[in-house]
Amino acid sequence: MKKADRKALRLCRLKPSGIRRMFDSLKEVPDAISLTLGEPDFAPPSHVSEALAVARDKSHYTPNLGIPELREALSRKAKKEYGLSYDPETEIIITAGGTEALFLALLALVNPGEEVLIPNPGFVCYEPGVYFAEGKPIALPLREENGFKPSIEEVRSLITEKSRVIIINSPNNPTGSVLSYDEASELAKLAVENDLIVISDEVYEKITYDDTKHYCLATFPGMRERTIVINSFSKTYAMTGYRVGYAYGPKDLIHAMKLIHQYTIACVNAPAQYAALAALEGSQEPVKEMVKEFNRRRQLLYSRLNEIEGFEFTLPKGAFYAFPNIKSFKMLSEEFCDRLLFKARVATVPGVAFGKYGEGYIRLSYAASYERLEKALDRIERAVKELMIW
Ligand SMILES: Cc1ncc(COP(=O)(O)O)c(C=O)c1O
Repeated sequence: MKKADRKALRLCRLKPSGIRRMFDSLKEVPDAISLTLGEPDFAPPSHVSEALAVARDKSHYTPNLGIPELREALSRKAKKEYGLSYDPETEIIITAGGTEALFLALLALVNPGEEVLIPNPGFVCYEPGVYFAEGKPIALPLREENGFKPSIEEVRSLITEKSRVIIINSPNNPTGSVLSYDEASELAKLAVENDLIVISDEVYEKITYDDTKHYCLATFPGMRERTIVINSFSKTYAMTGYRVGYAYGPKDLIHAMKLIHQYTIACVNAPAQYAALAALEGSQEPVKEMVKEFNRRRQLLYSRLNEIEGFEFTLPKGAFYAFPNIKSFKMLSEEFCDRLLFKARVATVPGVAFGKYGEGYIRLSYAASYERLEKALDRIERAVKELMIW
């Protein structure tokens, strides 16, 4: 067998993430400021690391679904925050980050050839997840003129008899858009009318600004039974490396996800699950402080980027990403990011890394300190002014 033929066919459509490409180039510019990261630059709240230290002797397997205490705490969270009852015995699963929950949901739901509508630009794991399930990803454009949110007419036009799942992600990576109550409600109605299952990726639920509210998709009429809500401790509590996420859903779907989880992961790292429990049960002040600081940085990016000729940028309502329009530079986003890296020594991610509708934009993460952001903006401004970019 030739080497090239050895890997399974299901991998043939996978290509390395465009973010990885940027990381590789970053090595060539050692003093570059990186605004590429999708993780908070904060430490987890101290009660979380303390709980991890106390739990270090929890060295055995936990139940496949996760430790009961954490599932019970998550059940209380759903009741308190969304008014929804989820049975901790059967309707909640603890996963290795939101990423695992997403893959489990797709593998559990999608039959070969079935269509999955995915936000485009969207989080880089959606499309590969659909390919792993041997489904067909259908790009759901998030257009700037529509505030980077799906247009109901366009969603309707993309639905066929093969459509099975729609992925919704609000607050959104990479655009920072957040669905309003009416927008979420319209999407929910469409899902019910067309018998679609919704995978609602809500990992940025706590990171919203200016009184913007997050609405859990499962709360709309007819939705609880057709929605898998995916969430994570990664962004809210700056716990990306702990790898703890979770999903809420109806019993049959959580059971299906558990089957895959049980034969692949068995259970999430036990001490990390106790740390996650401490995050949920401890003070939520550190989360508010983090969001306050993100907001300060968001304002900085907004005012400074818009002052630089060529950038057009509307204030995002959630997550910690800026997604400015760079079309007036008349360059593809990959080339633009390469120039920013090599001429301005600032690393950003080309919009096209998030899908073809991301072309013409770049993503800057403001999970970098205020001072570093200021310095990065100075460098970008200088590079653009001195026409080094062109
Ligand atoms: C939209 C979105 N969903 C899910 C995840 C997964 O995060 P984790 O696996 O760390 O929970 C990310 C991480 O960047 C994300 O941006």
